Amino acid sequence: MDKIGIFFGTDTGRTRLIAKQIAKKLGDTAAAPVNIGRTTLADFLAYDHLIVGSPTLGDGMLPGESCGLSQPSWEEFVPQLAAADLTGKTIAIFGLGDQKKYTHEFVDAIGILHDAFVARGARVVGRWPTAGYDFAASQAVDGDEFLGLALDQHHQPVLTEERIDAWLAQIKTEFLR
Ligand SMILES: Cc1cc2nc3c(=O)[nH]c(=O)nc-3n(C[C@H](O)[C@H](O)[C@H](O)COP(=O)(O)O)c2cc1C
Repeated sequence: MDKIGIFFGTDTGRTRLIAKQIAKKLGDTAAAPVNIGRTTLADFLAYDHLIVGSPTLGDGMLPGESCGLSQPSWEEFVPQLAAADLTGKTIAIFGLGDQKKYTHEFVDAIGILHDAFVARGARVVGRWPTAGYDFAASQAVDGDEFLGLALDQHHQPVLTEERIDAWLAQIKTEFLR
């Protein structure tokens, strides 16, 4: 398998730290994490296996200039996918959020990214159980699963590392399928 590309958006840096933690755990199998606002569509499309991360900001929104970021992020990148064919690409998504303060929009960005990638033909892997979280609603949920790994650094930081380890073990096998 070629290297896994890791791309993230962030406001206050938490998602970047998780992306770096994931890259460190994957070692040589992953490329260094890249901020999605500082890359090109061609660099993104260079990978067949991708791990992408995003916080949810605003009211259940992708990070970007509409929610006050001074730099472009996922909000500006996603429209570029309209010109892309993601057939043959496998993508796993992780998202950071706050299940208490934003209980009606918890990790919505996972759902927004999922739909954008699937619409362009990608296979999205890395679903994660909703058991163990306490929130009211999320665009990132299908049945009793999130469409990617949900992390809450505000209320469940102690669970993050074990969640990442279990999720990486799961997606490694899903990437090989
Ligand atoms: C203005 C603002 C809006 C937010 N909106 C949401 C939201 O709708 N849903 C959610 O789950 N988390 C929301 N959050 C929480 C962030 O996703 C969380 O703090 C995350 O860890 C930030 O990651 P970052 O440091 O990579 O930017 C919001 C945070 C801020 C500051």
